[in-house]
Amino acid sequence: MNTLLQIIYLFASITFIVGLKMLSHPLTARKGNLFAALGMTIAIFGTVLIHDLEISSLKYVLIFSALIIGTALGWISAKKVKMTQMPEMVSLFNGMGGACAALISLIEYHHYIGVNTAVISILAGLIIGSISFSGSMIAFFKLNGTIKKNYSLPLKNTVNNLFLIGILIFAVYIQINNLPEIYTYILFVISLIYGVLFVLPIGGADMPVVISLLNSFTGLAAATGGFLYDNKLMLTGGILVGSAGTLLTFVMCKAMNRSLSSVIFGSFGSSSSTVSGGSGKELGNMKEISASDAAVLMNYSKKVVIVPGYGLAVAQAQHIIHELELLLESKGVEVKYAIHPVAGRMPGHMNVLLAESNVDYGKLSEMEEINPDFVNTDVVLIVGANDVVNPAANNDPSSPIYGMPILEVEKAKHIIVNKRSMNAGYAGIENELFYDPKTSMLFGDAKKAVTELVAELKQM
Ligand code: TAP
Repeated sequence: MNTLLQIIYLFASITFIVGLKMLSHPLTARKGNLFAALGMTIAIFGTVLIHDLEISSLKYVLIFSALIIGTALGWISAKKVKMTQMPEMVSLFNGMGGACAALISLIEYHHYIGVNTAVISILAGLIIGSISFSGSMIAFFKLNGTIKKNYSLPLKNTVNNLFLIGILIFAVYIQINNLPEIYTYILFVISLIYGVLFVLPIGGADMPVVISLLNSFTGLAAATGGFLYDNKLMLTGGILVGSAGTLLTFVMCKAMNRSLSSVIFGSFGSSSSTVSGGSGKELGNMKEISASDAAVLMNYSKKVVIVPGYGLAVAQAQHIIHELELLLESKGVEVKYAIHPVAGRMPGHMNVLLAESNVDYGKLSEMEEINPDFVNTDVVLIVGANDVVNPAANNDPSSPIYGMPILEVEKAKHIIVNKRSMNAGYAGIENELFYDPKTSMLFGDAKKAVTELVAELKQM
């Protein structure tokens, strides 16, 4: 039976690795997710039914009740969640993973007092899992707007670092002195407090980076459980989550031209929508355009590039934008989409949205690929994007986003910007692109504005 279980774990580990690989491309991502979930399901049932053949029927009732309740909650919340709420959902689920790792440590500690290697795994899992749980909960409440401010204590970095050192010294003290179980509960509580202090001061715009970092913590915490139980599946799964989370964290930092330390220790990017920053120079006049004039401009273009941003997701305008793309193509206009790596609020946000409306993946161009193409573009249509097209990132050293790679849309012949007002984007800063003589503002909700464009184009 043990051999059968090991084979099941090996199979599940392979599904995790193949599933993760498939997640790296939009065309295979959905299947990759299902494939890894299949592996996990087989592993769960294998463990419950084969690992211990002598457990009581009461325990089976408890295990299956927990499985049914957990599956139902996961299913319902995944069905109900809106695309724009995805980051907070990921944060919530990630927190649950951290909590599981911490609870395993709390439950197992008294069985292993005096067994050094096991206690090290247990205490590491307890600290990392607890920080991941409370940190993810704060991230969840920040993203859903319950916590609106970034609370920053004086000397927060020094206080936080000393706090962390204190936690590590306390854990070593517990291990060396074989202290009783109650001390692990104290360690649990202070680690939870550290998780709160760690995430509370971090700005809203940096939250997806923090979630990805906490995700890697949860992976590590699960891996410590794998060490403890000598369970190869927990180990593989934990290491995959840990390394994928770490890589994603660095990819996001690179795309925003920020270092991880500036995300953790800086205070850039509050979620405030007030306009600030910039060099304070006169920005000039802004001009508006009507849907019919914008439609004429696009109708007589050879090449149109659509830049989707967070507003497209808010308005759920992905289907109508696809209709606009097909309509323009039927009139002989070449259409492409320019995808910035951190457009929207989560990695791959725009790719997922456009895949939802069946946009041909070949029409999506990454930033490096499309930037040299803007000089040959007649019209750039920006739909609900702001920070990712802000030229201040290239030409204003005083701007907080200076150095962040952006889509260089200002090189195109005409720029049409659709948004609802002159409000700032997530970084809370002014965008001089809106005052560029080549730019025209098409105000309104993205879905409504693009629907009007489609209606106008149909009449031409
Ligand atoms: P933003 O800079 O956030 O700008 C979005 C714009 O959409 C806003 O200015 C808003 O203006 C407009 N908008 C909102 N609802 C709309 C609607 N219903 N219809 C039309 N327009 C609407 O978005 P972006 O350009 O995609 O940039 C993403 C930002 O998030 C960057 O600062 C990035 O660094 C940050 N960030 C992203 C990630 C990932 S992984 N994607 C991770 C961390 C941080 P109005 O209110 O005037 O309409």
